[in-house]
Amino acid sequence: MTILITGGAGFIGSHFARRMVRRHHVVVLDKLTYAGNLENLKDIREDRELSGRFRFYKGDICNQELVDHIMSAENIDTIVNFAAETHVDRSILSASTFIDTDMKGVFVLLEASRRYKIKKFIQISTDEVYGTAHHGAFKETDPLNPSNPYSASKAGGDRLAFAYWKTYKLPIIITRASNNYGPYQHPEKFIPLFITNAIEDLKLPLYGDGKQERDWIHVEDHCAAIDFIIENGQDGEVYNIGGGNEKYNIDTALFILSVLEKDKSMIENVKDREGHDRRYALDCTKLKTLGWLPQINFEEGLRDTIKWYEMNVSWWKQIKNDEFKKYYQTQYNHRFACKN
Ligand SMILES: NC(=O)c1ccc[n+]([C@@H]2O[C@H](COP(=O)([O-])OP(=O)(O)OC[C@H]3O[C@@H](n4cnc5c(N)ncnc54)[C@H](O)[C@@H]3O)[C@@H](O)[C@H]2O)c1
Repeated sequence: MTILITGGAGFIGSHFARRMVRRHHVVVLDKLTYAGNLENLKDIREDRELSGRFRFYKGDICNQELVDHIMSAENIDTIVNFAAETHVDRSILSASTFIDTDMKGVFVLLEASRRYKIKKFIQISTDEVYGTAHHGAFKETDPLNPSNPYSASKAGGDRLAFAYWKTYKLPIIITRASNNYGPYQHPEKFIPLFITNAIEDLKLPLYGDGKQERDWIHVEDHCAAIDFIIENGQDGEVYNIGGGNEKYNIDTALFILSVLEKDKSMIENVKDREGHDRRYALDCTKLKTLGWLPQINFEEGLRDTIKWYEMNVSWWKQIKNDEFKKYYQTQYNHRFACKN
């Protein structure tokens, strides 16, 4: 396979590139937004054997000319589209780049896939397209009910990909994973923010009462599932990918503090996120029946992740720069002032 991994310099995309380059030719296209980081791919680029099977392009998935050029120059037969604006909080502040990348960008990739007759297109969607799970767990056939600009734009990309299967029989598969955690996740996201703030002895801003439930999956389990789906999934199908670890955010925060031997008074309940989904839960029977199971225990995986952030302070300190601090102030100053 020659795989185009879009968004491959981000959190999940870089793990996926590292996994696939051992067996396939990998081409990464990434805009290197604030969330993209070439450091995440450093080990591949510096490895004599792996770098021979690896190419990197800096650019936008919305740029049709560039996408066409990569498709023909690199002879791409498979696309896995991770490229996206991904932070719900940022989508609430300003949605425009989310509409561009998460919808228009998907359109550009789908059109190029038709022109170049690719063999497989995996659209990485998210469990957030279902909205809040009031009870039970969502199946792939449940209706989509996204409740913020991020999840709504991801739902747009998800359904557009499906339309290209229905209309043109483009070989599409859609995956909807639950919340990922693991090394290399940008420190503005919940788990790395809480780990790095705790290491820096800063407050941990917990939204609302902290009783939002999230199903956590280790990023390596998620990547293994996508790899498995490329080999075993059916075109035109949707697959949920969950870790089976439903946790209240407050309990995850307390676990992080206990591993780092910090006091729970570091948690500060702040004004909740607008339209915050209370609970996500996935029914993954379809993928499990096909033969995939998550392997990584949540507590062990989270302990290892905490250790990784302790060992890689320079990686996240570079990201927690002045621009990050500006974003943090915009996002949290008023929330700290107006506690839950
Ligand atoms: N992180 C999660 O918990 C989670 C869960 C389910 C699904 N997903 C989906 O997985 C994918 C990857 O998520 P992540 O957490 O790794 O995100 P991330 O924010 O860490 O990485 C996104 C990457 O996409 C790149 N990018 C953004 N806009 C681009 C554009 N227009 N053209 C090219 N590259 C662009 C960024 O530079 C970055 O490298 C996303 O599609 C997301 O919706 C994430």
